[in-house]
Amino acid sequence: MLVAGGAGFIGANFARYMLAKYPDYRIVVYDKLTYAGNLDNLQDLDEKYADKYVFVKGDICNGEQVNDTIQQYEIDAIVNFAAETHVDRSLFNPDVFVQNNVFGTHKLLEAAKLFGNIRFHQVSTDEVYGEVLRGSFHEDDPLETRSPYSASKGAADLLASSYYFSFGLPVTITRGSNNIGPYQYPEKVVPLFITNALENQPLPIYGDGKYARDYQHVMDHCSGIDLVLHCGQLGEIYNVGGGNEVEALNLAKLILKKLNKPYSLIRFVEDRIGQDRRYSLNCAKIKNLGWVPQYTFETAIDDTIHWYINNEWWWRKIKSGEYLEYYEKQYRERLDKAIETVFSPSQGDEL
Ligand code: NAD
Ligand code: TYD
Repeated sequence: MLVAGGAGFIGANFARYMLAKYPDYRIVVYDKLTYAGNLDNLQDLDEKYADKYVFVKGDICNGEQVNDTIQQYEIDAIVNFAAETHVDRSLFNPDVFVQNNVFGTHKLLEAAKLFGNIRFHQVSTDEVYGEVLRGSFHEDDPLETRSPYSASKGAADLLASSYYFSFGLPVTITRGSNNIGPYQYPEKVVPLFITNALENQPLPIYGDGKYARDYQHVMDHCSGIDLVLHCGQLGEIYNVGGGNEVEALNLAKLILKKLNKPYSLIRFVEDRIGQDRRYSLNCAKIKNLGWVPQYTFETAIDDTIHWYINNEWWWRKIKSGEYLEYYEKQYRERLDKAIETVFSPSQGDEL
């Protein structure tokens, strides 16, 4: 199995999950190692699964390299996690999103077609539906993407589906909600808030902080992808979400409370442009396949917080490199303009 983008947050957790669950599987992690790709995410696998796991540094946009890798390792399934994934970065530089997420997916699909019936699974996101103010999205709802990130992911979904209908490629797609857990790059809100709180740095809240996301533990997402890969109907799309809707301000307060840090670290900053107000998924379809998430929001956030407390070596390295440049660009002016908000002691129990 080729796990494209497997040195990133979810892909690395997925590779680990699959190697532990299926002793007969051989996994090739294929990753370009962008700023978000990190061999530290895979560090124990070399030793633990020496004969079953290999890392190949490669770009999904490079058709020749993809083909060579498929041939060399006799790949019969591709799970595509490879993508540029951060909405804020897609507002700075949409080009790399279109290149990696659309053209890259196209190259992988072409390779799967070229070698015959390679099973292809595309990992997508709830963001392709756009915002939903009431109710939840179903798989057949229209795509109403509003950021370059979500637009590029929506385009990749449509391409993947088209290879099923046009060429009979055995394709499935999952659309996951926001993941949390080990190895998430600290630009995303949960690890950003946890690591900033641990360093007594401000927690930047966009706009009024009432933007709701559905958080799920990365391992539940991985088990959903595994289930669809093995039991999903070809050509179909499956939503995978935790049903845990949390607004950003409440998330910040919860994290601060759990870490015993003051609410005075909270800063309301200038909003992200065009931000989706709320995401919510109806997951009846994957539940009918037999998917049962193992984490509640409480156990998922506790596991995540403990991981970051116990793995400072992992995130401190990241926070000293390219990350700082991005952080300055994204937050410095915002934080300088922000005014400290005073919360009454009774506030903070809204979850
Ligand atoms: P991530 O940013 O942590 O990792 C992405 C990985 O893809 C990195 O290792 C990067 O090096 C690699 N990559 C990027 N471009 C590449 C290219 N051209 N060739 C090879 N590798 C390349 O992302 P993540 O959070 O692990 O997300 C993985 C996938 O899941 C993405 O497709 C994303 O859209 C989707 N998804 C993420 C979430 C979430 O909450 N993080 C939720 C739903 C869906
Ligand atoms: P994020 O982790 O970037 O994921 P998404 O792709 O779903 O937007 O952000 C999750 C939520 O947290 C979103 O509503 C925006 C909010 N947020 C902040 O308030 N401050 C921040 O610094 C970040 C990164 C996100």
